[in-house]
Amino acid sequence: MDKKITIAIDGFSSTGKSTLAKQLAKHLGYVYVDTGAMYRAVTFFAMQNGYINIDSFDKEILINSLPSIKLQFKFNADLGFAEMYLNEVNVETEIRTIEVSNFVSKVAEVSEVRAKLVEQQKEMGKDKAIVMDGRDIGTVVFPYAELKIFMTASATTRAQRRYDELIKKGDTVTYDEVLANVEERDYIDTHRKDSPLVMADDAIEIDNSYLTREEQFEVVLDLVNEIIKAL
Ligand code: DC
Repeated sequence: MDKKITIAIDGFSSTGKSTLAKQLAKHLGYVYVDTGAMYRAVTFFAMQNGYINIDSFDKEILINSLPSIKLQFKFNADLGFAEMYLNEVNVETEIRTIEVSNFVSKVAEVSEVRAKLVEQQKEMGKDKAIVMDGRDIGTVVFPYAELKIFMTASATTRAQRRYDELIKKGDTVTYDEVLANVEERDYIDTHRKDSPLVMADDAIEIDNSYLTREEQFEVVLDLVNEIIKAL
């Protein structure tokens, strides 16, 4: 299989985009990029510096600080995937907390933040052989991707998955708190002015409320093989 394609995976939060993207990348020997981690790292930076908190968000100061934010993915061979580094520090754990989840959609609304991250994402994909997941990959980052997947599942299914994950990690959240966060992020992500979450016209929708990981992987792998065969 020496023909390489670009795979864009978009969809609502906690639909299992990253699980699918990682499985595909591993199987195909492609690079996997979790763009949500990039928005989360910028959010963590803003929190660390006091630019965003429960009462206020100083967008201007964050925009002015963007040149001093360096984001890198570094592959961790033990884990089998790349981890997020913010200014040379591994922030993989810090960016997954409910606090970051609560602020990230607000940071992701800022056009200057999006422009910086989209530019870096386009650069990462210039040689194809990439699986990238996010909200605007098929519409903005790689509008010419050979395969675009749009993942959905009910808000309650997604909240339960996210809640289980957070509890497993030792977080002390309630299910209602997680559901509220999922619903709030859905609203902000689909209503923002710049690059709202919408399904690309040529994307294939997968509702995985009742699909196992393996079933969903098989469905998408068949699509990949068909596309590669037709190239
Ligand atoms: O995929 P995730 O839940 O880790 O993403 C975190 C947030 O980042 C999500 O609420 C919306 C935003 N995001 C975005 O606006 N565009 C992307 N390409 C990826 C994520």
